[in-house]
Amino acid sequence: MKIKSICCIGAGYVGGPTMSIIAQKCPGIKVTVVDVNEKRIAAWNHPDVNNIPIYEPGLSEIVAEARGRNLFFSTEVDKAIDEAEMIFISVNTPTKTYGVGKGMAADLKYIELCARQIARVAKTDKIVVEKSTLPVRTASAIRDILDNTGNGVNFQILSNPEFLAEGTAVEDLLAPDRVLIGGDSTAEGQEAIAELVAIYANWVPRDKILTTNVWSSELSKLTANAFLAQRVSSINAMSELCEKTGADVNEVAKAIGLDSRIGSKFLKASVGFGGSCFQKDILNLVYIAKTYGLNEVADYWEQVIIMNDHQKRRFAKNIIKTLYNTVSGKKITFLGWAFKKDTNDTRESAAIYVADDLLAEQAEICVYDPKVEFEQIQTDLNYLETRSETLNGSGVQVKTDVYEACHNAHAIAVLTEWDEFKTYDWQKIYDNMLKPAFVFDGRNLLDKTTLEKIGFIYQAIGS
Ligand code: UDX
Ligand code: ADP
Repeated sequence: MKIKSICCIGAGYVGGPTMSIIAQKCPGIKVTVVDVNEKRIAAWNHPDVNNIPIYEPGLSEIVAEARGRNLFFSTEVDKAIDEAEMIFISVNTPTKTYGVGKGMAADLKYIELCARQIARVAKTDKIVVEKSTLPVRTASAIRDILDNTGNGVNFQILSNPEFLAEGTAVEDLLAPDRVLIGGDSTAEGQEAIAELVAIYANWVPRDKILTTNVWSSELSKLTANAFLAQRVSSINAMSELCEKTGADVNEVAKAIGLDSRIGSKFLKASVGFGGSCFQKDILNLVYIAKTYGLNEVADYWEQVIIMNDHQKRRFAKNIIKTLYNTVSGKKITFLGWAFKKDTNDTRESAAIYVADDLLAEQAEICVYDPKVEFEQIQTDLNYLETRSETLNGSGVQVKTDVYEACHNAHAIAVLTEWDEFKTYDWQKIYDNMLKPAFVFDGRNLLDKTTLEKIGFIYQAIGS
């Protein structure tokens, strides 16, 4: 069989960009991305490609090229399942907020709903591909549902975790370090793997396409995220020690990163990692380890999260301490709300947690972010409000002009490393702030010498 039609269930930060690239690189394959969220699909179909729901450098151009040719966005899930020979599952797998495994295990209800829908609709053989990050052995649950509730057709299940990072999704997809495909060792399983390999081989060198068994593939994704997050927590742990000892974490990171065994990437000290994956996947790993009674393994990885929570909290605490132990009624401007630069995604962003701590101290927060919409910030704050009795969401303003955002502020906190922050007229910002004017740089982004020369009191992480 040569695949002619694929569909992807879930038009999110993974499904949307991944399918856009497949459509661009495989013009002979019809790619339909479906989602139950009508607003999201309408945004993907917006006549102006600059208004697609996800901000990713380079993505709009790719959507412009492929959309309407062989790339389609639709809410007709059943129709897309029926037509496709290969179905990617790319729905959300949030951390459970209830019952057994609450706060740790991945909630698989959306995955299960998808599997049941595929089973109900499919009248011909399908290859089902897990794209969402899933706990090890989820494929067997999907198989159970498909085989027991299906219409007697044949399903092959593959695991094909996505390693793209937001903000660089297009380059990561175009030139991946590797593509990982896990499948059964049976002849049918190997055939299914070959079909997916053939799709990627349209642009990815064959030696970068790795095939494994399903379980290795599922666990590799969790492991990769755990290792990456662990590096960030490790350098953040050292940043606190640097602040006490007079060392500079940037210098330490450079010195250790030159050791080829360590490498230079993911050693940037920060206010703490965010994003939809790191915390969720590590909690999931911890939960899995615990369910097998591997308590030392669970504790080891849990420490990565404990360190990250500590880093976010101590950033907020330092602002309060430095502003003479009170931020009540003081305007603190947040530069950045996204969890990293070049994305409009705010899931688990450190900014949300820092805001929570400062609002509990009655600070007045003003946010400027180049890409995050006002409604998103509101949603994040509403979420906090449901958690916190002390929080008064009315203490937050959102501005679309950075100079206005900083006007009359007591302090600026840099929460996201957007490049444009470096290019501002910092003298003008200083002139319009209350004095003394503080900058707390949670990303070690700005130039200390320049800012101090202007008159700012500048504090970075880890020095
Ligand atoms: C991550 C993985 O990198 C990716 O492979 C996986 O598919 C999904 O999860 P993502 O969360 O999109 O990607 O972004 P990433 O670049 O990994 O950054 C995660 C967080 O760590 C961000 O908040 C970032 O600011 C922070 N970070 C990253 C640091 O604080 N310091 C670093 O050195 C690197
Ligand atoms: P990710 O970052 O992993 O892509 P997102 O939360 O951004 O995750 O996207 C997941 C998408 O999956 C959401 O847009 C959600 O509406 C969609 N979704 C969840 N369950 C279903 C389902 N059963 N059918 C169709 N779409 C679904």
